[in-house]
Amino acid sequence: MTAMPRLHGQRGSSMNPDNNNQGQEQSPQRQPSGSHVPMRDHQRIRLEAVSKRWGDTAAVDAIGFDVAPGEFVILLGPSGCGKSTTLRMIAGLEQATAGRIEIGGRDVTHLPPGDRGISMVFQSYALFPHLSVADNIVFGLRSRKVPKAERRERLARVAQLVDLEAYLERKPAQLSGGQRQRVALARAIISEHPICLMDEPLSNLDARLRGEMRREIKALQQRLGMTVIYVTHDQVEAMSMGDRVILMQDGRIVQDATPSELYERPASAFAAGFIGSPAMNLVTLSAAADGAVIDGEPRCSVAPHEAKGHWLGLRPEEIRLLPADAPGVPAEVIDAEYLGADSIVRLKVGSQQLRARLDGRPSLAAGSPCRLQWRRETAHFFDASDGQRLAITGHDLAAPPGRHRFEPGLAGASTQDREARASSYPAGNDSSGVKR
Ligand SMILES: Nc1ncnc2c1ncn2[C@@H]1O[C@H](COP(=O)(O)OP(=O)(O)OP(=O)(O)O)[C@@H](O)[C@H]1O
Ligand SMILES: [Mg+2]
Repeated sequence: MTAMPRLHGQRGSSMNPDNNNQGQEQSPQRQPSGSHVPMRDHQRIRLEAVSKRWGDTAAVDAIGFDVAPGEFVILLGPSGCGKSTTLRMIAGLEQATAGRIEIGGRDVTHLPPGDRGISMVFQSYALFPHLSVADNIVFGLRSRKVPKAERRERLARVAQLVDLEAYLERKPAQLSGGQRQRVALARAIISEHPICLMDEPLSNLDARLRGEMRREIKALQQRLGMTVIYVTHDQVEAMSMGDRVILMQDGRIVQDATPSELYERPASAFAAGFIGSPAMNLVTLSAAADGAVIDGEPRCSVAPHEAKGHWLGLRPEEIRLLPADAPGVPAEVIDAEYLGADSIVRLKVGSQQLRARLDGRPSLAAGSPCRLQWRRETAHFFDASDGQRLAITGHDLAAPPGRHRFEPGLAGASTQDREARASSYPAGNDSSGVKR
């Protein structure tokens, strides 16, 4: 057997024996005697100005957030932004340098992991290779001296829940990655701790299995009413699983929002670029006579003057390609990448490049001229100096003020007519030399 890895921050003999089991299974939360706090409130987590420094470096810098009982909260961000450190401080596996961590209204900042009432699932699974699946799952219950009959009953229930009944006698080496992951999950679930912390639990799995496990974990969490904090750098996991996503950068919180808020109203250019694939286009705006234009393309203003010098953000899926004689921003096709259900078309606008996501497989010759439109509410603006979101509303490119954006034949048409006309040109209509 390999030696049991010790937990970071473990305090030797003062540790509860439960903690000597890889951090997966910890003792139930001790409640203050005479406590009348409703059960669900014990699942509440609160961080206030929590920091972690190593020498001069702040891995986590005065962050704060609340997690409500039963909520599924994602810590998302690029490698090294402090996600694991934050999770490990909540678990008690790292000591916070400053700030306060509360679980169920209790200050747990300086409590050992075993006194926090949480379970944890790691990326590495941390299974005991010499123990069977069943023994791995009940390991924590054994060390807590849960009677054998109860262990057996809980094992049967949890094995059914994660669909491992047929594998209970196997050793971890005889399991697939997904099955091992489910053993690690089962071990967290069987503990019946209402709070589960997960650190990149799916990163060892292939894409198909990751998709399945995403749905399974989410369904389980909902069925059991668990509070989950889930660390990932994968935006798909974040968007599909999270009730809320806390996006981090350099040890700080950039945005704390629902997945749809994060997608529709990114707080900064960093947030805009982190969510969505391909990422949001960010192009530089410069000044023209009738407003701000995409740099190098002075014929069509896209926003009021105040936007000049800043960035325009456009999601690839919000850009529509229209014939070269339609209203909109003049552009030229660079190339198209076919992905199956859709294609990513690269476009040149003035000195800038944009990517548009179009359905199917448009046949677009390199160099074809076209016009671009987007709905004004899908245009985002960010300050070029600090990347922060700006409260600017862009022009309506289909029905604008300003002569450059009028299509001659539609100058007197109603807004509905124009919209109907515009939407009848799917990406690259064949009346324009831009063919599908
Ligand atoms: N024990 C340590 N000693 C010194 N620095 C550390 C230690 N652990 C982490 N760090 C630093 O703290 C920062 C945050 O690390 P952390 O592991 O929290 O990042 P992460 O967001 O989980 O990244 P990843 O996605 O790569 O897992 C990093 O710059 C890292 O190098
Ligand atoms: Mg990490």
